[in-house]
Amino acid sequence: MKHYPYLFSPIKIGRLTLKNRICVSPMTITGRGEEKGYFAQDNIDFYTTLARGGAALLTIGETGIHSRTDACHPRMAHLDDPGLLPSLTRLVDSVHQYDTFVSIELVHSGRRAHPAYLPDNGEVWGPSPSVNHYGAKVKEMTEEMMNEIADAYAEAAFMAKFAGVDMVMIHGGHGWLLDQFLSPLNNKRTDEYGGSLENRARFPIMVLDRVRARCGRNFPIEYRISGSELIEGGLEEEEMAVFAHMIESKVDSFHVSVGSFHDPATMVRMFPGPFFPNGVNIPYAAAIKKAVSVPVTGIGGLSDPDDMEKLLEEEKVDMVAMGRQMIADPFLPKKALKGKSSEIAHCIRCMRCNSGALIPYVPYPNGVVYCSVNPVMGRLREIARENSFKTVEKKILIAGGGPAGMQAALGALERGHKVILCEASDSLGKTLSYSDHIEFKQDIRKFRDSLISRIEDSQVEVRMNTVVTPELIRSAEPDLVIGAIGGDPFIPPIEGIADNNVLYAASMHRSGAVPGNNTVIIGGGLMGCEEAIALAQDGKNVTIVEMTDIIAGEADGGLKQMIDEKIAYYKIPVLTGCSCRMITEDGAIVKNKDGEERMLAADSVLIAAGVRPKDSETNRLRDTCYDLGIDFIAVGDCKKTGRIREATASGYFAGRNA
Ligand SMILES: Cc1cc2nc3c(=O)[nH]c(=O)nc-3n(C[C@H](O)[C@H](O)[C@H](O)COP(=O)(O)O)c2cc1C
Ligand code: SF4
Repeated sequence: MKHYPYLFSPIKIGRLTLKNRICVSPMTITGRGEEKGYFAQDNIDFYTTLARGGAALLTIGETGIHSRTDACHPRMAHLDDPGLLPSLTRLVDSVHQYDTFVSIELVHSGRRAHPAYLPDNGEVWGPSPSVNHYGAKVKEMTEEMMNEIADAYAEAAFMAKFAGVDMVMIHGGHGWLLDQFLSPLNNKRTDEYGGSLENRARFPIMVLDRVRARCGRNFPIEYRISGSELIEGGLEEEEMAVFAHMIESKVDSFHVSVGSFHDPATMVRMFPGPFFPNGVNIPYAAAIKKAVSVPVTGIGGLSDPDDMEKLLEEEKVDMVAMGRQMIADPFLPKKALKGKSSEIAHCIRCMRCNSGALIPYVPYPNGVVYCSVNPVMGRLREIARENSFKTVEKKILIAGGGPAGMQAALGALERGHKVILCEASDSLGKTLSYSDHIEFKQDIRKFRDSLISRIEDSQVEVRMNTVVTPELIRSAEPDLVIGAIGGDPFIPPIEGIADNNVLYAASMHRSGAVPGNNTVIIGGGLMGCEEAIALAQDGKNVTIVEMTDIIAGEADGGLKQMIDEKIAYYKIPVLTGCSCRMITEDGAIVKNKDGEERMLAADSVLIAAGVRPKDSETNRLRDTCYDLGIDFIAVGDCKKTGRIREATASGYFAGRNA
């Protein structure tokens, strides 16, 4: 029986026949380590891996067309530089091995260009004069400038075609130049390029006509739009449907996202976070589909093949695109086709992957696409190299069946080792079970379940309710023991903390665990904030007490923004620069930086002060192994407490490198 018959039916975009309905959305990865903005081997490996997983169409992310007036990322790739051609040609060739078509997204950021990334003779251009959010003066574009940019789009598309790219995506959304012309928020012109929709659409249409004229009828053009800018006074659904209808004869398909960088608050919908349902933006794509007759692609937090199949069956969209989910598991298409959807590593929408690039939303871009649930991302090159070395089969004993332990097992299995995985409790992935009682943590729950599925479907010997003791190590005679026994909640030295109205966020595994209606949370890190939001959603009163000046400081880019928004939405009082001096049966006595104390009445006090490695147990395991002449490596929280990526990556690589 064919799984997902709608997802796996072919579709035509222009003259191209796509093998299925699954697309990899445009994702910028240049500017992540490569000096000149060319595609580094790492970038080629990234896109090739995404193609190997079985998607029909892959779009290379934002690529500039006019470097003198545009760069929205550091070291951005530009198609007005023929120097890009060798690496682009190799990239396209590499992706083509896997029967995946390649598109490239052409962009000009207009008034959002970053002056620091422009050449010495650079200028910032836009539809109307202004000062941009980086403080640069924006020059109003004359018709001559428009012609120069339209020609640059056309030449860039032609150069991409010359490099073997199968089609282009023109980025007309997200608040970049073409969207700026279309949107009344940015376009204040009074000439024939401003005012009515027809006038505002004139420049985007000029660009489309030039690209078509330069590349020909047989080179498909996809137009990416924001189905709504989601900003008061900005472009809305109805007008976008009229616009789409207006240009449909000039394009071969539409790709419908939402939001605009004009207001960074819309990023939480552009990259829908865990507080939104999967596919939250699909209604905007469905509205465009009703207005046009060319194929329409929907996007936004999609990750479950069942959901996507339904969207296609109900004719809401013609194709589905995924960004983050394809980083989390590029093999989603192949797994779905084989009926193994339960083994898809589920994206937890933590935004770790994007934290490297979203300037100015992160202060220090790290330049690498790391993923919390897919440890190979960011290290594809070395993995490919290591895969070419033959390994000698070893016997590996893993203590701990949390995310680090399970990933260690999967990593070891990939290299042909024999694995025994021991878990002290009665269930795998217990450290992630806080996700069971928080609705907006469903992605983490699904990720945990997919890890368990992969373990259950593998050759790993799982021993539940089994503590790894010296006797067990002796009798199993492993070549390597991997310690993945996790951490314990940190108990801060607060008077009265041993009282029974105190709970620990890190060890709460069930709903309704916090008694009473009033809770004080000690610790405003990500975990404390998420617990606070969950309690507020249950209608409880909650106050966060945080010692530093910032809450959820460790959350990546967009996620931090979402947490702040939710805290504000639920009007959760946050006391920063405040510490807890004493816990009584009536609540918590807290002290601010000036030493002023106040009593916060509460039925329960929730400690969210983080986790500390189980040092003594880990050291005991290590000592036993060393006494027996067996290798030992600690991974995950028992080595150093961190977030999910630290657990999955340290586990996976310990297993692989055994
Ligand atoms: C690492 C990363 C890079 C991205 N780069 C681009 C880009 O270059 N151009 C673009 O239009 N969108 C870019 N996006 C947005 C995605 O194409 C997509 O619209 C967004 O992530 C929402 O889809 P998702 O929920 O499936 O991730 C990027 C997203 C990520 C995660
Ligand atoms: S880093 Fe987080 S948001 Fe990005 S793909 Fe991985 S799990 Fe998803």
